[in-house]
Amino acid sequence: MRLTGVVRVVALLLTLLGTWYVVQTYFDRSWRAISLRSWIGEALPGLWVRLEGGCKGPPQPRHKCGNQKSCPQNHFAFKITSGAANVVGPSICFNDVILMSSVKNNIGRGLNIALVNGTNGQVLKTDTFDMYSGDISKLDTFLQKIKRGTMVLVASYDDAATKMNDKVRAQFEELGSSHVSKLRFRDNWIFLGAKGLKNKSPFEEHIKNDAKTNKYEGWPELLEMEGCAPRKMD
Ligand SMILES: *[C@@H]1O[C@H](CO)[C@@H](O)[C@H](O)[C@H]1NC(C)=O
Repeated sequence: MRLTGVVRVVALLLTLLGTWYVVQTYFDRSWRAISLRSWIGEALPGLWVRLEGGCKGPPQPRHKCGNQKSCPQNHFAFKITSGAANVVGPSICFNDVILMSSVKNNIGRGLNIALVNGTNGQVLKTDTFDMYSGDISKLDTFLQKIKRGTMVLVASYDDAATKMNDKVRAQFEELGSSHVSKLRFRDNWIFLGAKGLKNKSPFEEHIKNDAKTNKYEGWPELLEMEGCAPRKMD
């Protein structure tokens, strides 16, 4: 009797141990499976979004200029991209119209500038100024002629500073720039300002040409900025 009792207890213990082992292993596996999936989800969010969008997700609404967000009333959507090194040209989109780009064949080395009417968003002019070997007085005259209420969109390409002088820097400051004073050889610069602004423009990015941090050998990473510029209301 005693012996069979011991055998039963041992058998029971072995069964419990076996069950624990199986359950433990199973849950361990499934936990791993779950964590692997969420890890992939974290590592490749773009892929998941694309997969879901491509298979069954609702179509994403398209915003003006291909921007992430739509703009409130009385604002113009814009997107400005600087050039990448001396290889890929810059582009300027305003109110869903590409004003300047390589495809439009109206960009060039130096500064690319588009002028629009800040009240109705109509394009007034686009021009490009070679800042490496061009005549700086051409840009000086162009900036002087800008009328109050005009929005000014600027994108650099390759080099935007070699011919820059204090007079031209002062004119960009008058349009609301805070960074033009620091612009140097092969820096990238994108800017949206306006003639008659009371404050500095919030729409400006500048990255320095620095051999230690440059993405390309002799040039920094390209810049891209999108946003909503308020319509001139008065
Ligand atoms: C902008 O357009 C308005 C008419 O919609 C005109 O009165 C104004 O002078 C224009 N401003 C500029 C700077 O071109």
